Order: sequence, then structure tokens, then C-alpha cells
Amino acid sequence: MKTKLAKIISLALGENYSVTEIESLIETPKHAGLGDLAFPCFTLAKKYKQPPSLIAKELAEKIHGDFIDEVRVENAYINVFFNQLQFAEEVIKNVFSQKEHYGEKPKNGQKVVLDFSSPNIAKPFSMGHLRSTVIGNALANISEKQGYNAIRINHLGDWGTQFGKLIVAYKLWGNKEAIEQNPIEELLKIYVKFHEEAEHNADLNEQARQAFKDLEGGNIEAASLWEWFLGASLKEFEQIYKVLGVSFDSFNGEAFYNDKMQSVVGELTAKGLLEESEGAMVVKLDNMTPCLITKKDGATLYATRDLAAAIYRHKEYSPAKLFYIVGNEQSLHFKQLFAVLKKMGYEFAEHCEHIPFGMMLKDGKKMSTRKGKVVLLADVLTETIEAAKKNIEEKNPNLEKKDEVANDVGIGAVIFNDLKNDRMNDIEFSIEKMVNFEGETGPYLQYTNARIHTLLTKGNFALQEDTLNNLDEEAWGTIKFMESFPIVIEAAFTLASPAIIAKYSLSLARSFNKYYANTKFLTNDPLQTERLKIAYAVSIILEESLRLLGIKAPKEM
Ligand code: ARG
Repeated sequence: MKTKLAKIISLALGENYSVTEIESLIETPKHAGLGDLAFPCFTLAKKYKQPPSLIAKELAEKIHGDFIDEVRVENAYINVFFNQLQFAEEVIKNVFSQKEHYGEKPKNGQKVVLDFSSPNIAKPFSMGHLRSTVIGNALANISEKQGYNAIRINHLGDWGTQFGKLIVAYKLWGNKEAIEQNPIEELLKIYVKFHEEAEHNADLNEQARQAFKDLEGGNIEAASLWEWFLGASLKEFEQIYKVLGVSFDSFNGEAFYNDKMQSVVGELTAKGLLEESEGAMVVKLDNMTPCLITKKDGATLYATRDLAAAIYRHKEYSPAKLFYIVGNEQSLHFKQLFAVLKKMGYEFAEHCEHIPFGMMLKDGKKMSTRKGKVVLLADVLTETIEAAKKNIEEKNPNLEKKDEVANDVGIGAVIFNDLKNDRMNDIEFSIEKMVNFEGETGPYLQYTNARIHTLLTKGNFALQEDTLNNLDEEAWGTIKFMESFPIVIEAAFTLASPAIIAKYSLSLARSFNKYYANTKFLTNDPLQTERLKIAYAVSIILEESLRLLGIKAPKEM
């Protein structure tokens, strides 16, 4: 809408101003009574050294076009009213001809690599990993909608000194059967015990260091234990991904880079970037803590593996962008990583981006895996699904496929609760609030959409023509929201912010529900079809918004 008007104004000004320049000046008036868009003439007044009201008056006369109904001058402002029916018809035509592809950009042949979720094996899947999973998955969907090819990578935390500790702990206290039954919980138990014991038995740490060296050196016993830990953990993680409906193109975790580390260290040496510091090898950086590359005993670190991973991904995929969706407590790590890549002369460092996020809180406190006391994600999800089921029992006890719907609603609630907030904010995890059908929730959107489908069925709606012959005054706001869907997706991609789509879909649903509350839809006359066309278009966009966020949209609720 803004672009259309900007084109007309730019033309009227003899193209002295580009469409983008003009577009950035156009405002949306606070009240609908002031028009659909307003153009303030202060900037032009300065340039042409004339009073803004005079400019407004002269320019207004040159503003006309198919979609414009009326142009009013109010002091320095030109207020423009669109021809609502004509405008709405074009929007509806676009939505119906493209359906779920509305707002999509053509394939651009470029790749975006997204490193997300990335839990640590033999440890519980934390709330932080849940956030990364949900945000990363949405960003991958949004990237695809923008024409990119998304590569979803799960950079498993499956390597590091902690596996030396785990191997020692297993040999001392491990119970094979118990671990097979309940891998992550049991492995965590012996890992915690290791730390308690190590406090008064320093020798344990020495043993662990040796065990990890053995593992890195390819010792068969250590390797087979590690493989067992990995397999058992992955089985548990995969259940979570299945529930959340998330998939990956690669599970190449830290261990995958084990045999690629020497060449990175070699390259750093050859480029003269490696320096010794208290026996360890580091890369010094400007205004930043040095990046630790190898320890005294030659063992590699998290950062070394990330360096190898970044270079590998660059060579393997040549992506246009490399996103790392990881909590903001790792900001320094990524700054160091990108700085080292830059020092190595890799220009792709410019295309690497850390996409940080805040914490998940319960009753104002961090939900975390403190010593032995674990909030198990699987339990939390089960609880949410139960709460959703209770709501459904109350609202619609005769619903078929109740369990399936409760699943979609419970999980949708968790995902939306996360994504509706700007990702840097900490978010509160309140099951009651997030499954509420009337709040700013996923279930509210799902419910709005399901209600539209019921309405379409009741009204025997079948799409026959994509014209629009009537537009109720109350539907105008909804039409304007629908028109802006493509630029909303673009903004969500540019700012790496699924929240933009989440907030947008709330606004769209609210505006439609307001229209619906004030209008009788099922009137058995030609107007019924016109209204149902709008309802149907809204459902197409709501479903697509939910899909982008990673949320299912049941047709009945
Ligand atoms: N496994 C890490 C953790 O749980 C996250 C890994 C993020 N990705 C990366 N390439 N560093 O903290």
C-alpha cells in the first residue's frame, strides 16, 4: 500500500525522490478517520524552501490513481483514502491465487545454514535448548519462505572433557541396565556424583583428563562407551523433536570435527596467529579475551571445534548466511569465533551471525538443570498437553480426535509463548496462561482459525470466483493486515525475529474477530459468500503464519 502511494508521489515529483525515499516518509495515521496513509510535507518544504502547507496543497492535486478514492490536505499533511473495495479485491485475488504461497519469494539459489537446538549428550535437554530449537526452526521456515534453501544443523555437544569424566564415572558407579532404561537421567546422576567426589579426590580429575585423551586418541574402549552414550541420548532427543515437529539436515556435532582439528591448528600456526600462553595455545584478539585453541595437554576446546565447523560449513555449503541460534550467555564465544575467522582471512566471517536469546523463567527464576534437580522437558510438554486437553473437554467435549488436537494445541502453546516475545527478552513459562484460548496465545490463533473453518462448513462455502463484490466497513482493517503479510515476513527475516510474525498473526486474528463479532455472516444471501471469502482468506494467512512459526493448525477444535 505504501509502495503504491510512494510510486505515485515520486512520479508527481518528477522522480526527484526515489520511491524508497518517499516510502520512508509515509505514515500510518493514528485514526482511520484521517485516512489510510498520510504524507507529511516537511522534508520537501525544506528542500524547496516553501511552506509545507503550500507544498501539500500543490502536490495533493497530482495524487490520483486507481486505488485512491480521496485526497485531503490538512496543513502540512496529505491524507489519502483508498478505494476500499477495489483495494480489497486485489488483496483477496492475490491470496486466493497463491494460497499458502502468498508472501513467498521465488527461489534465489542461495543457502542459509542454521545451527540450532544443539543439546549436549548425556545431559538433559534444557529450556535454553528448547528456545534455540523453536526459534531456529521458525527462522529456517522463514528463510525458505524468503527464497533461500535452509540447511538445519544440530551441532550436538558430543565432545569435550566432560566425556572423560563420564567414562570414569561410569566405570566406577555405572549401572548398565539402569542407563539403558533411562539414559539421560542416569548418566546425569553419575556425572553429578563425579563432581561431588572430585571435590575431595583430585585424582579423579586427572583420570578424567586421561580418559578424554584416550577418547581423542581413538582408544577402542573409550570410543565404544562414548558411542553408547551418544546413541542413547539421541534416542531421547529424537522423541522431543518428534513431539515438536522439528527435523534436521545434519546431526554433525562437535565430535564430527575431531579429525578436522589438526588442520585448523596447522592453518592458525602457518598464518602466525597462534601464541603460547601459560602452556596453552591462544589467538590474541583486539579488545577481547584471547581465544583458547588448545590446552596445555594439547586437548582441543569448544572454540576449536566451532572454528573447524565454520570452515567446514563454508566449504561444504558456501552459504549466503551462517546463523547460530544460541543463548546470549555465549555472546563472547561467538564474538571471538568470528574475530578469529576474520584474522584468518575468511571473508565469510561477515556472513556469520550469532542470534542470541534470553532465559526461560518460572515464577521469575531461571528454569535450569541445577545439581541433580532437573526440570525434564518431556514432563513439561506432557503437562502442557494435559492442560490443553482439559480446555478442549470444557469447550468442545464431542470433538473427534481429541488427543491429536490436544497435542497440537499444547505444543502450539509452548512454541507461541516463546516466539511472541522479542527473543532477547526473558520469558515466563506459565502453562495456565499459555494454553488460554482467549489470551495472546497460540491456542487463541488456532481457535480463531478452527472457528473460521466451522463457519465455512456451515455456510457451505466453496471458492468459485476470486472477485470481491462487497466489503463491509468493519472488514477494512483486516484487509489492510492481509495486504501487509509479505512485508511482515521480509521484516521477520531481516531482523531474524519470528516475534514479528507472531505479533502480526495476533493482530490479524484480533481484527478479524472484531469484524466477526459485529457482523452476521450466515445470512443466506449473496453477501454471505462475500464475507466468507474474507474469512477464508484470513484462515489461509493464519495457517501459513502458524506453519512458519512451527505450529499446527487443526481445522476443528
Ligand atoms: N551445545 C552447546 C550448549 O549447549 C550449544 C552449541 C551451539 N552451537 C555452536 N556451534 N556452538 O551450550
